Amino acid sequence: MNIRTATVDDLIGMQNANIFNLPENYTMKYYLYHALTWPQLSYVAEETSTGKIVGYILAKMDEDASPTEPPHGHVTSISVLRTHRRLGLANKLMKQSQEAMSTVYQSAYVSLHVRKTNRAAISLYRDSLGFEVHDVEISYYADGEDAYGMRLDLTK
Ligand SMILES: CC(C)(COP(=O)(O)OP(=O)(O)OC[C@H]1O[C@@H](n2cnc3c(N)ncnc32)[C@H](O)[C@@H]1OP(=O)(O)O)[C@@H](O)C(=O)NCCC(=O)NCCS
Repeated sequence: MNIRTATVDDLIGMQNANIFNLPENYTMKYYLYHALTWPQLSYVAEETSTGKIVGYILAKMDEDASPTEPPHGHVTSISVLRTHRRLGLANKLMKQSQEAMSTVYQSAYVSLHVRKTNRAAISLYRDSLGFEVHDVEISYYADGEDAYGMRLDLTK
């Protein structure tokens, strides 16, 4: 398995790795915007023998932060194909992106949203990576489910 930065050529493979996994499917334009604006922050897990994209992380720097807030990164989406789960891929994708947020953009912390019922993802963020719940956003998702806003300090 090869973990490397995502390029524009990967976008279809990334969308394919998401489409069966998450109700939130982003437009190609949004993927492209991430890849072009913050090329160091998004990564793919590529099967070495086939070149197939089996997982990805799409991340950005927060553009809406007020000038008084320190720069911080945000994970827009992360997904690993069912056939390739529990191999540590999401963990590696998250760590690579966090490292780049910190070194390239001096990001003070990384934020993300997760569905309250998404046990696997919450366990990844909280238990494996050390994220903490920062707030709850009521009806954050289109179907009315609440989100946890989670954060991880990157200054330590
Ligand atoms: C969440 C997701 C990205 C995890 O991907 P993954 O590559 O299987 O995760 P990893 O193998 O890196 O797991 C790291 C840790 O996360 C936790 N974890 C992952 N999947 C889990 C599960 N199904 N149940 C409980 N804990 C889980 C464990 O602590 C795991 O460590 P361990 O395997 O040593 O116990 C994957 O399940 C997925 O694509 N889900 C659908 C998309 C999604 O929900 N994305 C997140 C949206 S916010």
